[in-house]
Amino acid sequence: MSNDRHVPVMLQRCLDMLAPALQRPGAVVVDCTLGLGGHSEALLERFPEARLVALDRDKEALRLSGERLARYGDRATLVHAVYDELPEVLDRLGIPKVDGVLFDLGVSSMQLDEADRGFAYAQDAPLDMRMDQTAGISAAEVLNTYPAGELVRILRAYGEEKQAKRIVSAIVREREKEPFTHSARLVELIRDALPQAAKRTGGNPAKRTFQALRIEVNHELESVEKAIPAAVKALAVGGRVVVLSYQSLEDRIVKGVFAAGAATTAPPGLPVVPEKYQPRLKLLTRGAELPTEEEVAENRRAAPARLRGVERIREDVQ
Ligand SMILES: C[S@@+](CC[C@H](N)C(=O)[O-])C[C@H]1O[C@@H](n2cnc3c(N)ncnc32)[C@H](O)[C@@H]1O
Repeated sequence: MSNDRHVPVMLQRCLDMLAPALQRPGAVVVDCTLGLGGHSEALLERFPEARLVALDRDKEALRLSGERLARYGDRATLVHAVYDELPEVLDRLGIPKVDGVLFDLGVSSMQLDEADRGFAYAQDAPLDMRMDQTAGISAAEVLNTYPAGELVRILRAYGEEKQAKRIVSAIVREREKEPFTHSARLVELIRDALPQAAKRTGGNPAKRTFQALRIEVNHELESVEKAIPAAVKALAVGGRVVVLSYQSLEDRIVKGVFAAGAATTAPPGLPVVPEKYQPRLKLLTRGAELPTEEEVAENRRAAPARLRGVERIREDVQ
């Protein structure tokens, strides 16, 4: 297996964007998506004065990164948590404000590489897809138990799948014969259900359905919706949040939260905008930044990445 997939995405840009916030004495940075610890390790190296708190919902990721980051001793605190629990985690650790927060959303290369976790449609594996295998329900349970209408909604909303009805009719027909357990049967069913024209575009025809199931199983969008505002709230003035997204639904949520924070909330027509209506955030990216062609050539996983960052410029007004 090539090592390329373990290269942290847009690493230099993430570090540079966080730098002004993390070069302050006693700085605390939170990596909300520790994964294999690539970004975290680079943060600890580049900012030797900073303390790192890193979260992941995947215990296997925490175990592997724990070994990788052990040499940093108590500069690194690793926590098994979903990132929308950030406020509780910081509370427990007695950290009132942080200086930097990084999100590298999505699935880790380790999760994709381990066939038995069922994320990859290219290999036959149990349809699990839970990032935290100690909680929640698997992709197979979603497929076998959700009402047809709910499955259509999920495929449309989370997979942007235009053929959702066709695919779901086939799923419902098949699950009545025998419940789904493994990915290959689902991939084959999708291939058979789609009209020729739909198969010619957009890579593997199962890609959108797999994305949709993964998002549903892990409640990914709800989590991002809660976590980004929570991260902004946890920032000290001058602190920065940087987010890497890999699909448009996530990026849209991030964009919305950042844009709202960077806009004035004053009613229109005020000649002078009072402090309480002034924006709390400054955008650090114009639109979303993309990886360079060189990076994509070296690391295919970087291809869909979209990076956005903000700085807190004002306290919340009570
Ligand atoms: C793309 S990987 C991060 C890779 C990491 N930046 C590195 O350099 O190795 C995303 C990680 O976030 C974790 N994750 C996804 N959603 C999460 C959530 N809601 N809460 C906590 N961790 C989550 C996944 O388990 C995965 O390990």
